[in-house]
Amino acid sequence: MPFVRTTESFRAGARTMPREYYASPEVFAREQDAIFARSWICVGRERDFTEPGAFQLVDLAGESLIVVRDREGEIRAHYNVCRHRGTRLCTESSGTLSETIQCPYHAWTYRLDGRLIGAPHMTGTPGFSLADYPLHSAAVGRWEGFVFVTLAEHPPPIDQAFAPLHGRFSRFNLPALLPVRRIEYPVAANWKLILQNYSECLHCPTIHPELTTRLPYTSGANDLTEGPFLGGYMEIRAPHQSATMSGRACAIPLGDLPDEDLARAYYYTLFPSMMLSLHPDYAVYYTVAPVSEKASVVTCVWMVHPDAPSKPGYNIADAEEFWDRTNRQDWHICEQSQLGVSSRVYAPGPYSPRESVPAAWDREYLRQMAER
Ligand code: FES
Ligand SMILES: [Fe+2]
Repeated sequence: MPFVRTTESFRAGARTMPREYYASPEVFAREQDAIFARSWICVGRERDFTEPGAFQLVDLAGESLIVVRDREGEIRAHYNVCRHRGTRLCTESSGTLSETIQCPYHAWTYRLDGRLIGAPHMTGTPGFSLADYPLHSAAVGRWEGFVFVTLAEHPPPIDQAFAPLHGRFSRFNLPALLPVRRIEYPVAANWKLILQNYSECLHCPTIHPELTTRLPYTSGANDLTEGPFLGGYMEIRAPHQSATMSGRACAIPLGDLPDEDLARAYYYTLFPSMMLSLHPDYAVYYTVAPVSEKASVVTCVWMVHPDAPSKPGYNIADAEEFWDRTNRQDWHICEQSQLGVSSRVYAPGPYSPRESVPAAWDREYLRQMAER
């Protein structure tokens, strides 16, 4: 993905991380605990859970969660673990539940809010009370129309965790945006290589010749250069209006954007595993799910203004194809990186000042790993 990098946060001597961070199952297991079981993780959009009972199964840090909108309209995240003998409750990856969640083993039955309301043949069990066995739940947070969950027992409120982004994207109308395309990509690379790749555009002239004509790789500047949220903007080169195959805008503007933003594209990483791309006419968000130390699944969703599909000139395929090509170029080079950094001879190499953001990303990662 594109990124021009200025040198403001660059620290002399910054080097890439050692082989074990990309090739060791032990490091992978440790980061599942230290990072994925502690962070707010994006699981989709509020509008993905349209009606009561709409649910998705989410795999996170070795756990299976049922993320569901309950009858009162709240979005909940329940561990997919029966309180009787622990059996998985749901096996479908998504769908609509009826009024209840029923265990397939002995039919313990839960409301969508997690309360246990039926437990056959438990009446003779001394001291048993339905009220003592609700589903275990994970915290759910909302930010700009996105749904996040965390396995942390006492998580910081999401507004506090996301304070550095407060108000930063208001003009892009994110809560109202309509998801219109979604692609899942299996990538044979460690999840961190994908985030690092998104965080610099030093590779753009070699890996993305088409992209470089629309977004000059030395244009723009970073405005978040340290911490869990990193990124900045690139300039869209006239006469191109957007990052699309045709170079034309594919939809009406996302919001009431100032002229300056009509000629910019913004790219941010949200630690640990979300990436957010904002163009004048469409947004794209990515979530990276780690599968193993050498495999990930990237989900990529294109979003537009809710009125865009009914307006003349709407052509999201123009943006979808542009990023689908670019994404595949990126995933391929990440897979080549994975193979190389797994070698016995690979040792950390020096970052360029144009890679100040991946270097800052690594610092944040190592800081969070060291907290445990
Ligand atoms: S394990 Fe779920 S009802 Fe027995
Ligand atoms: Fe790229």
